[in-house]
Amino acid sequence: MSHESLFRKSGPTAADIDAFHNDGCIVYPDVFTDAAREELTEEILELEAVQDHLRAWAAGTEEHRYFVRPWNDRGRCGDGLIDDPFVTALLRATIGDDYHFCHSALALAPPGTQATPYHQDHHHWKHDNPSNRAERERYYLNGFRAGDHNLTVIPGSHRVAPTAEATAERMLAGEYDVEAGRRLEERRLELPPGSMVYINARIFHAVEAKPAASPQAYRLFNIDIFKQAGPPHRYTQEIPQSWMQGAGPERRKLFERKADSEGCWA
Ligand SMILES: [Fe+2]
Repeated sequence: MSHESLFRKSGPTAADIDAFHNDGCIVYPDVFTDAAREELTEEILELEAVQDHLRAWAAGTEEHRYFVRPWNDRGRCGDGLIDDPFVTALLRATIGDDYHFCHSALALAPPGTQATPYHQDHHHWKHDNPSNRAERERYYLNGFRAGDHNLTVIPGSHRVAPTAEATAERMLAGEYDVEAGRRLEERRLELPPGSMVYINARIFHAVEAKPAASPQAYRLFNIDIFKQAGPPHRYTQEIPQSWMQGAGPERRKLFERKADSEGCWA
């Protein structure tokens, strides 16, 4: 299905691709068109489950973030993200044509939300099953300030061999600079509304806490994960029947794969 892009860009530049390979991520500040950012935000905020959660925050009966995985209740824009021409161009330029849609998530984090420590998202990285790559599009519809639930990354950390010893702490202490071929250090991001971060799932990343006194009522975050063709990853989602029914051949290709299930790795 081809449709008008939700983004201001049509594809990555050569410098973007370099950043992806060297840093393990590409940062796109304010990359949604204004119209797409507004419509997607509205679509999400109108969801009944989100409305219920917002009301519960206001009533003081809920203090935790709203989180759903997979995020299947997608409207026109949410659905369009899956094979937006810009997203497709990014994936093809970084991992080639042979990839699948893996899964998605949606999160609204209120003030007081705890930090997420450094980790990698690659769920089949350190176990016995075949190793897949996975690339993730992280969308920050209302942005974030440094010190306020901001994303931090260690550029280049995806290049360090995945051993149990290779922790973020040791990387930041300089122990893996030689292996990575660069100085590994923390990069604290700060992004305006409508931003996107495209990451290699193997890059070490973390999220700082959202202070109780944060001026932002919630940080709005959604994510789509794509994986190279092959066996399921942890969380590879079931594709809703309705998605399949409406899908053209290109979309079908993204969706025709096994989902993660009990015993699928046995
Ligand atoms: Fe993560």
